[in-house]
Amino acid sequence: MFDPVIAPSILSADFARLGAEVEAVIEAGAEWIHFDVMDNHYVPNLTIGPLVLKAIRPVTKAPIDVHLMVKPVDAMIEAFADAGADLITFHPEASEHVDRSLDLIAKKGCKAGLVLNPGTPLGVLDWVMDRLDMILLMSVNPGFGGQAFIPSVLDKAKAVRRLIDDSGRPIRLEIDGGVKVDNIGAIAAAGVDTFVAGSAIYGEADYAAVIGRMKAEIAR
Ligand code: DX5
Ligand code: ZN
Repeated sequence: MFDPVIAPSILSADFARLGAEVEAVIEAGAEWIHFDVMDNHYVPNLTIGPLVLKAIRPVTKAPIDVHLMVKPVDAMIEAFADAGADLITFHPEASEHVDRSLDLIAKKGCKAGLVLNPGTPLGVLDWVMDRLDMILLMSVNPGFGGQAFIPSVLDKAKAVRRLIDDSGRPIRLEIDGGVKVDNIGAIAAAGVDTFVAGSAIYGEADYAAVIGRMKAEIAR
């Protein structure tokens, strides 16, 4: 397993002070920044594009984990890679050619991952495991921050952990949606190593305190 990573979702940050909000969570102990891209087509919400990524890129050396909730995906892969993404994940049902999109991410020099919605079966992982650096399990339906964690995703995480271990490949297992101090321990125990949290971090006044409590729960 990899060392754990906490990736605060800037969706819940104060957008009027976005650069400072990015810096603050990294200084508070987070390892990555999670960047949620929504298009009002694949998901019923609209957020931020490559211009915003380009603007925050110089603020931190921390890896920026771009979660594309857009359809189609390929043009956005190019745009976000050019804007400075380190990792790019997309939803397989949003791409006409999953293998081609994964190939494009790798060609652009980024790490690649697939995102599975709560109702998406694991079969989409067959035959592309060798292309993946990360698998992202949604523990809410994508589109909004601040939703409740869907508990059945814990068993799904255990199943994906087995798939990753059986593959023998260095693939991270990330979870996104409703992650809080009080459930992150159980999520880690299910085999997750990479934790996205938006409202649980940016909703607190003391980012270092909440990130510290999360890390303590993961280490238990
Ligand atoms: C949901 C986004 C998440 C979201 C997480 O579609 O992908 O990253 O912002 O927010 P919380 O942690 O508040 O559920
Ligand atoms: Zn996300």
